[in-house]
Amino acid sequence: MKRAFVTGASGFVGRNLVQRLVQHGVQVRCLVRASSSVRFLRRMGAELCYGSLNDACSLGEAMAQCDAVFHVAGLTQALRREELMRVNSDGAGKIALACSRQPDPPVLVLVSSLAAAGPCPRGSIRSEADRPAPISHYGHSKRAGELAVQRYADRVPVTVLRPGVVFGPWGRAMLPAFRSITRLGVHLVPTFAPPPLSMIHSQDLAELLILAAQRGRRLRPVPADEVNSDDARGYYFACDNQYPDYAELGRMIGRSVGRPGVFCWHLADPFPWMVGGIVDLVSRLRRRAEIVNVDKMREAHASSWASSPTAAREDLDFRPAMGLDDRIQATSDWYRQNRWM
Ligand SMILES: NC(=O)c1ccc[n+]([C@@H]2O[C@H](COP(=O)([O-])OP(=O)(O)OC[C@H]3O[C@@H](n4cnc5c(N)ncnc54)[C@H](OP(=O)(O)O)[C@@H]3O)[C@@H](O)[C@H]2O)c1
Repeated sequence: MKRAFVTGASGFVGRNLVQRLVQHGVQVRCLVRASSSVRFLRRMGAELCYGSLNDACSLGEAMAQCDAVFHVAGLTQALRREELMRVNSDGAGKIALACSRQPDPPVLVLVSSLAAAGPCPRGSIRSEADRPAPISHYGHSKRAGELAVQRYADRVPVTVLRPGVVFGPWGRAMLPAFRSITRLGVHLVPTFAPPPLSMIHSQDLAELLILAAQRGRRLRPVPADEVNSDDARGYYFACDNQYPDYAELGRMIGRSVGRPGVFCWHLADPFPWMVGGIVDLVSRLRRRAEIVNVDKMREAHASSWASSPTAAREDLDFRPAMGLDDRIQATSDWYRQNRWM
């Protein structure tokens, strides 16, 4: 891989990917918006293309002569379902269309989500071959994005990665938990039976994305009337092989910040739903989506988010560079060094 085009490069997952690509000696071109934070990308020597996911022409020019396209851009929370669909589904379709119009279409790696596949029964582990059954608006929008890129799989070599919870440098979603455990020794768990989680460190995910571009299996081209095919080829879960639930995760964080006796405060229903509803209401008034909302409560109340790392290990020879405990420790160190907590 000589030159890569990255969308969502200004975000958490994207920054980690750009950093890793540059370390691999790849020239990186990034799609950014006028409002994107680009200081880090400039420092990395990345080329910036100002544009939009809505404009297939400008996307085509921006990705010209790139041998790989990493479509990372996406919304993890939004005020409305339609907004999630517009960005996560329509946006993915526009990127795949622009790839298909290249004289020599690049490999397209789509960052989807485990939420697109959905949870599995407690005690089992989801494999890529299991039929997708998303339960949240976010999950439905990411699944729609997968189907949108699959439509171009006859012209574009496409691989889809479905990360579980991503954490690491620049990650904001887990920061409140790190802060509350560090300051108060308290960890809020939004249910009495928290589901086992699939997790991946952002730097491991970056490495896995590059492996997927280099040697991932590609999606099976499906005829237009079969786009709901559940063929698993070209899909990979991105996760470690440990599945802590949210309370265990709090204890891991506690150990990493020197608070081994962390108190896990389990919230009883309907309290978490009420909190999600109030946050949704306030978010609408302030016109800014928050990470805690009713849609995330749906995911937090699922049976299990355990997913299998086997396909990534067997096809791509992927293994996380460190265990989960060490990665949590490194994340806590990063937050401290960068004065995030
Ligand atoms: N974080 C996780 O735990 C996790 C887990 C599974 C999957 N994912 C997936 O990973 C991807 C990245 O997530 P993240 O955590 O890095 O999120 P993030 O930090 O919020 O970054 C999102 C990125 O997408 C860009 N973006 C959003 N809407 C856009 C639009 N309409 N047009 C162009 N760019 C747009 C943002 O650009 P601006 O900087 O300009 O806003 C930003 O660069 C998403 O597709 C998400 O679904 C994340």
